[in-house]
Amino acid sequence: MNISNAPVSFPPLEALPVEALSWVGGVDGFLRLLDQTRLPDLEDWINCFTVETLWEAIRSLRIRGAPAIGIAAAYGVCLQLRGKEGSTAKLVSEVHQAATYLATARPTAVNLFWALDRMRHCAAGCSLLSPEQFRVRLLEEALTIHREDRAMCEAIGRWGASLLPEEATIITHCNTGALATGGIGTALGVVYTAAAQGRKVHVYVDETRPLLQGARLTVWELTRWGIPCTLICDGMVATLMARGKIDAVLVGADRIAANGDSANKIGTYALAVLARYHQVPFYVAAPSSSFDLTLASGNQIPIEERSADEIRSFRGVNLAPPHVPVWNPAFDVTPASLITAIICEKGIIRPVSRENIALVLGQ
Ligand code: MRU
Repeated sequence: MNISNAPVSFPPLEALPVEALSWVGGVDGFLRLLDQTRLPDLEDWINCFTVETLWEAIRSLRIRGAPAIGIAAAYGVCLQLRGKEGSTAKLVSEVHQAATYLATARPTAVNLFWALDRMRHCAAGCSLLSPEQFRVRLLEEALTIHREDRAMCEAIGRWGASLLPEEATIITHCNTGALATGGIGTALGVVYTAAAQGRKVHVYVDETRPLLQGARLTVWELTRWGIPCTLICDGMVATLMARGKIDAVLVGADRIAANGDSANKIGTYALAVLARYHQVPFYVAAPSSSFDLTLASGNQIPIEERSADEIRSFRGVNLAPPHVPVWNPAFDVTPASLITAIICEKGIIRPVSRENIALVLGQ
């Protein structure tokens, strides 16, 4: 757990592969999002002026990835306050209304609820301010959540890079980079940091059925950053590992229970089982905002089930006979016993146990 976390020279934020979301303007501003459902073909930006537009963007994965969802939701509360007049008490109730609504957009990533709680808490503490000061303070809180996420990604990157060999071949799943966070990413942040430190990194990217976040988003991001990568179908991992090609698996998390069981994109658990069989280290990289210490174990993590059509077809093309019954859980839970270490901004949790999690998180 006690390894050096010394800062390294890192590309400036302007060198981020992409900024997936940003607030434009002051208290009456709006949220600008890159529509991730259109990538890699189109870089299409959406301006969200209402909380309803943002809810739809989160639900339909235009903005996605646990930390990015949380940041977007915090800005969503500010959207609710756009142009609002009336007493501060009325604004506090607007915050609660927006937070309750946004919390229904997706169930698994705890960052959504964490960020909304922070906004509610901030509103409660500002109830004596003037309406104008209240709106400024709430926007400042959302911007702080965004800035803190950037800093957490960079710290995760530094801790994680220290675990990799000088030449590292990695497998990753889904997308955990700049598109999924407010900064350089979590698991991909580790890759970017290792590359910035001069290590030779090659990433095998699982395509990540059914919505292809690996193929569409991670490959797009890695290519922009100039990181060598190879795309594989999810079912090819066993063969790749059996050939001894992989030094480590690096994935993110949507919710980590108090005992370290970690929910992440469906397919992650299979990757962890394969990694254990082939004796490949399996690392989960996630900020402290992805931990849910109210849940004793992963059995209690709510798993989102999405539309059958996401498996039966893709962008209007049938991939199966149209009426075949489908089961489409969006996430699975990897038991703590299969995780070599959890990399968070506060340090490396290894071995993964309830006690070490509490120790590193300072709870
Ligand atoms: O359904 P998605 O695309 O939101 O799922 C995202 C993931 O599973 C990521 O691995 C996770 O949110 C970590 S992002 C840093």
